[in-house]
Amino acid sequence: MFSKAVLASTLIAAVSAHQNFHQLWINDETPGYQAGIRMPPSNSPVVDVTSEDIACNVGGSKVPSGVDTIAANEGDTVKVQWDQSGHPGPITHMLFGPVDDASATTGVGSWFKIDELNYADGKWANEIMGADNMTHEFKLPAGLASGEYLLRSEMLALHSAQTVGGAQFYIGCAQLKITGTGSAGSCGPSIELPGAYKAEDENIYIPDVYNGFDPTTYSAPGGPVATCDGAGAGTAPVSGSSPASSSVVPSNNTLAVPSTFASVPASTVPAIPVSSTLVASISQGANASSAVSAPTTLATSIASSISSNSTAVAAPTGSAGNGSIANKYHQCGGKSWTGATSCETGSTCKVQNDYYSQCV
Ligand SMILES: *[C@@H]1O[C@H](CO)[C@@H](O)[C@H](O)[C@H]1NC(C)=O
Ligand SMILES: *[C@@H]1O[C@H](CO)[C@@H](O)[C@H](O)[C@H]1NC(C)=O
Ligand SMILES: *[C@@H]1O[C@H](CO)[C@@H](O)[C@H](O)[C@H]1NC(C)=O
Ligand SMILES: *[C@@H]1O[C@H](CO)[C@@H](O)[C@H](O)[C@H]1NC(C)=O
Ligand SMILES: *[C@@H]1O[C@H](CO)[C@@H](O)[C@H](O)[C@H]1NC(C)=O
Repeated sequence: MFSKAVLASTLIAAVSAHQNFHQLWINDETPGYQAGIRMPPSNSPVVDVTSEDIACNVGGSKVPSGVDTIAANEGDTVKVQWDQSGHPGPITHMLFGPVDDASATTGVGSWFKIDELNYADGKWANEIMGADNMTHEFKLPAGLASGEYLLRSEMLALHSAQTVGGAQFYIGCAQLKITGTGSAGSCGPSIELPGAYKAEDENIYIPDVYNGFDPTTYSAPGGPVATCDGAGAGTAPVSGSSPASSSVVPSNNTLAVPSTFASVPASTVPAIPVSSTLVASISQGANASSAVSAPTTLATSIASSISSNSTAVAAPTGSAGNGSIANKYHQCGGKSWTGATSCETGSTCKVQNDYYSQCV
């Protein structure tokens, strides 16, 4: 027993940089720690994007037993909580379904993305979550068909993305029984897992991740956030009938700057986030020699995001000039977003979360 305990604590120390999705809340109510979630055999990442493990983690097409399926309604707020993570990267959520029985579903097949959080206010999703007890919230879309679903939560760690196969996918799937108003197949686009991710996709293999890469341009794998045709008739609380009102960036969005560097003099601001992002990366064994070139890039992007507050309000909806109209499936709002806030004809700006609105 004693040796087992020693071994266990050694293992915990060795893998403490790894993480699992361990709890969820539906409208602030939780079924409990690990309830409703298919816990993988370990907290190690999946790195082979062509493996069936990329759907719902290790085990691939094997369906676990004894996992509860949690009730929810379309439009509900889902909160996920992960283990602590110092790995820079995005978080995304996808649904698989509707199916008759989520507990008997592998997750190998068609998914559609319902949420993503990449890089905002000079922080990756894992850091933004870290400031919120490792939680992240999003809404189940309106227009879902009633039925059971797998909810796939993915945290992608990019600290080794400079090599092919270096990106680490942390994945957890929950089982949900959703009551909705849509019809099956109304949400899209959908993607196949495995299949949709390729080892050399530009958001998975990033040769210059420590050497010139601009995180503000990053968008997570899996394509655009899906829309559901059935959403409408006023049932979608987040759909922007008025793109302007849902996407206007607050005029004093310096408040969105993380408190760690909001409180220091402006002249030193760019230096601070570099350490928070890079120290985490470097301590994960990343390439220290090339990492030294990263501060300039990060500092630049952060400095520009900080100085952006004057331009943030300068994009009124009506102005038709280029740069103020976002194309379909592109970003049109979110905290610290300074780009276009209007959408091209035929699409409207829809809030996905505090940090990301998209033309759909
Ligand atoms: C953070 O999450 C843990 C686990 O859910 C919880 O026990 C703890 O109370 C939370 N802390 C705060 C400050 O909310
Ligand atoms: C800035 O934002 C805060 C909270 O978001 C709000 O209370 C305050 O009135 C805002 N100030 C200005 C000048 O907009
Ligand atoms: C470290 O960076 C150098 C220069 O960019 C590169 O040649 C080398 O392959 C990198 N090493 C690792 C382990 O990524
Ligand atoms: C950002 O806005 C605040 C308040 O409006 C202002 O004091 C500050 O100088 C602005 N910063 C920049 C870089 O424009
Ligand atoms: C906007 O940009 C597109 C392509 O870059 C160009 O074809 C179009 O003429 C531009 N429109 C205006 C109003 O400048």
